[in-house]
Amino acid sequence: MQRATAHPGDISPLLALPGDLDATRLPRHLAVIMDGNGRWAQQRRLPRVRGHQMGVQALKRLLQLCGHWGISALTTYAFSTENWQRPDEEVNFLMALFEQVLKQELNELDQAQVRLRFLGDLDALPVGLQEHIAQATARTARHDRVHLNVCTNYGGRHELVQVARRLAQDVRQGILDPDDINEARFAKLLLTAGDPDPDLLIRTSGEFRISNFLLWQLAYAEIHITDVLWPDFDQAALAAALRDFQQRQRRYGTVEP
Ligand code: IPE
Ligand code: IPE
Ligand code: MG
Repeated sequence: MQRATAHPGDISPLLALPGDLDATRLPRHLAVIMDGNGRWAQQRRLPRVRGHQMGVQALKRLLQLCGHWGISALTTYAFSTENWQRPDEEVNFLMALFEQVLKQELNELDQAQVRLRFLGDLDALPVGLQEHIAQATARTARHDRVHLNVCTNYGGRHELVQVARRLAQDVRQGILDPDDINEARFAKLLLTAGDPDPDLLIRTSGEFRISNFLLWQLAYAEIHITDVLWPDFDQAALAAALRDFQQRQRRYGTVEP
C-alpha cells in the first residue's frame, strides 16, 4: 500500500476519484462480503487457496482506494462462524494466511495510518494469530485515516447473542434496569461501536444473501451485488458500486420529499 497523501492534488491520476463520482456523497462506511475466491481459482484450474491468496491483493487495492477517495471506514468479511465447516486443509490455510498477511503488512498499515481491528470471536483462533492481532490492534489503535475492520470468526447472530448476554449480566448485577435497554444502549455493545452503520454493502460473486454478516448494522445499508469474483475486484468495480450507490434514494421509511 502506498502512503496516502494529505493533498488530493498530489496523488497519481490513476488513484484519483473518477470525475463522475460526487466526493461529497461517498459512503462513510463501506461493508464488503469478499466472496468468490474459490470459484476464481476453480475457473483457472488452481487450488481454491490460490483464490484466497489473490483475494488479499484485492483487499489491499480496496483499502488503498478507500484512503485516497475518502471512505473512512471499511468492514470486510474474511471468515464466518460457519466457515469452520470447510475442509480442515482450507481452514488451516486461511488461518496461516491471516497471520502471514498481518506480519507482512503491519508496517505499511501503520504508516498509512490505518486503524486495524479484527471483529469476531477471536478466542477460537490459533494462539499465534491471536497474538499478532493483539499487537496490530494496539499498534494502530490511535490511527484515524481509515478504520479497517476485518471480520474473522464473525457471525451476526453470535454478535447479537453476546450483546444480549452482557446486558443480561448487568441486569443480574443490579446495575441495569431492563426498561433502560434501548437501541442506542444495545448498539454501544456491538463490535462496530464507534463507527457509523455501513451505508453501502458490496457482495461480490453474484450471491444475493448476507450470510450472517452485520445483521444489526446493515438495517438501512444500500446493497450492491456484482458478479465480479473477489480476487478480480478492482478500481473499476469499486467505482461501479459507488456510482450505483450515488443513484439510490435513501428514504429510511419516510416518503419522498
Ligand atoms: C470467500 O470466498 C472467502 C471466504 C469465505 C473465506 P469463497 O471461498 O467463499 O469462494 P467461493 O464462494 O467458494 O467461490
Ligand atoms: C461469506 O461467504 C463469508 C465470507 C465472505 C467470509 P460464504 O461463501 O461463506 O457464504 P455462503 O456459504 O455462500 O452463504
Ligand atoms: Mg463463498
